[in-house]
Amino acid sequence: MTKETVLVIGSCGQLGTELVEALRGIYGDAQVVASDIRKSDNPVFEAGPFEELDVLDEAKLKSLIERYKPSQVYHLAALLSATAEKNPDFGWKLNMEGLFHVLNAARDMGIIKKVYWPSSIAAFGPNTSRFDTPQFGAMDPTTIYGISKLSGELYAQYYFNRWGVDTRSLRYPGLIGYKSAPGGGTTDYAVSIYHDALTTGHHECFLGEGTILPMLYMPDALKATLDIMHAPADQIKIRSSYNLAGMSFGPEEIAASIAKQVPDFSISDHPDYRQAIANSWPAVIDDSRAREDWGWKPDYDLDRMTQDMLENLKPLYS
Ligand code: SER
Repeated sequence: MTKETVLVIGSCGQLGTELVEALRGIYGDAQVVASDIRKSDNPVFEAGPFEELDVLDEAKLKSLIERYKPSQVYHLAALLSATAEKNPDFGWKLNMEGLFHVLNAARDMGIIKKVYWPSSIAAFGPNTSRFDTPQFGAMDPTTIYGISKLSGELYAQYYFNRWGVDTRSLRYPGLIGYKSAPGGGTTDYAVSIYHDALTTGHHECFLGEGTILPMLYMPDALKATLDIMHAPADQIKIRSSYNLAGMSFGPEEIAASIAKQVPDFSISDHPDYRQAIANSWPAVIDDSRAREDWGWKPDYDLDRMTQDMLENLKPLYS
């Protein structure tokens, strides 16, 4: 086992919780430092070091880096699309200043060798081609979250080109998993629908029928994240952020997939402000560059994910 130390910032969110567990499996419990503004009660955080960190507190961030000397940082702390629309000033501040603090620490301290920072399908906008959305093309995000992601991509690329900071990034679709809850996203319905299937048997969706969005099952998201971070630097040819895709569906299609296993399951819709956000995003992403450059390939389609989600959630409700 390598003795590298890894710091995860924003570790108590939907992705961070599972990523900390996966990283501890690779590097060892003691080598993965989890941090977030406050600790969640998920037992994964008891297995190794946890530090309270508000990434806006640059001095504290630097002192943790001095203390633990992480060679890799995964910086996940952000407000997601729906929450950032409710508080755009803070969404911009957290998403951008947090990233600057991490990038500057990587550039200036001589400790961090690689930085992972997620972008999103939200970096695209209404003038992007919605189907087979290309890696390079029109990007005119209309949400503050999307604007912060597109700006962050360009900053990450700039730090790589100008100062050689080894930045790596993926444009995540909606992430679906059973181990941790999402918070504040436009794609979150695709997680709660599974919980509803096993409890009330009915889901009222905040997105309307026909709202096709790109989605990815968590094991695939973890695989992509670890693969891009572990790939040799010369395979990472895009330093803004890679398109990444798993599957695409609308609410009625995920409902149909669930109904194959939960026969009385039903869905209705009551679209809210998140519908406009979803309408500005791509439906189907072309991720051929990730496939070509570092061998990306997802394992899960919709039905396989549904089966796995339901199987793993059932014990929670029985
Ligand atoms: N899942 C995210 C959101 O809905 C997209 O990156 O905000």
